[in-house]
Amino acid sequence: MQVDLSVKPEVTSFFDPATNTISHVVKDPASNACAVVDSVMDIDYAAGRITYDHADEIIAHIRARGLVLDWLIETHVHADHLSAAPYIQRALGGRVGIGRNITLVQDTFGKIFNEGTEFQRDGSQFDRLFDDGDSYKVGQMTCHAIHTPGHTPACMTHVMGDAAFVGDTLFMPDGGSARADFPGGDAGQLWDSIQKVLALPDETRLFMCHDYGPNGRDIRWETTVGEERAHNIHLAGKTREEFIQLRTARDATLAMPRLIIPSLQVNMRGGDLPEADESGKRFLKVPINGL
Ligand SMILES: [Fe+2]
Repeated sequence: MQVDLSVKPEVTSFFDPATNTISHVVKDPASNACAVVDSVMDIDYAAGRITYDHADEIIAHIRARGLVLDWLIETHVHADHLSAAPYIQRALGGRVGIGRNITLVQDTFGKIFNEGTEFQRDGSQFDRLFDDGDSYKVGQMTCHAIHTPGHTPACMTHVMGDAAFVGDTLFMPDGGSARADFPGGDAGQLWDSIQKVLALPDETRLFMCHDYGPNGRDIRWETTVGEERAHNIHLAGKTREEFIQLRTARDATLAMPRLIIPSLQVNMRGGDLPEADESGKRFLKVPINGL
């Protein structure tokens, strides 16, 4: 894979304070084409109410700039927020893409949520399933998908020009790394995946999917490969074994994300809600002691 650092996409980021998620609109510098990475659909879980304020903000931004949406990229099946990819696609077009191993995630959670045969486990809810090393275009900009499993089996990092969207592999240097204890997660695999990201040129801009403002600092989402290599608190000066130990110990202290149950059911369907029942109503399930 050839990273072209001379191509510098304009990145506009949107922070969702309800889930600490950052969505990115990435504009090809040579055209009006853009991509959306990891959008968010709003849910008031206690009320079972879904709204689209966050997605509408992104749609308004793209329309105001007169951009053409080529791709809606999901770095992985998120467990902490719901994707708005289908909603944005209905408004603006574009294709929804995720990693090929979505099928493994669908298989695992299809069982956990006891889904019937109407729930396809073949990734067909998405327009494109990326394999490791696949490339695609946003306008004239060549983008690359790198398989970076560990947090989940389907995680991909997307390189667009001099910018890489790491999903939940890395956090900001003072945040460390993402948890690796979900079904299909693996701390050793996460270390290996992070090494792939850190093998990109030092100047590569890195954009996070999450930031929690550790130690009370302001929310930030952009850093570089060089900064992560030198300062990441889970990586710098550590061996693979030390990382696995630290990651595993930390994961044992973490509660489930507040929105994991609705997030998985929606995101494994490409951001669509479960089918309506005979009455025309839609429901989400809560598996008892299933997670
Ligand atoms: Fe995640």
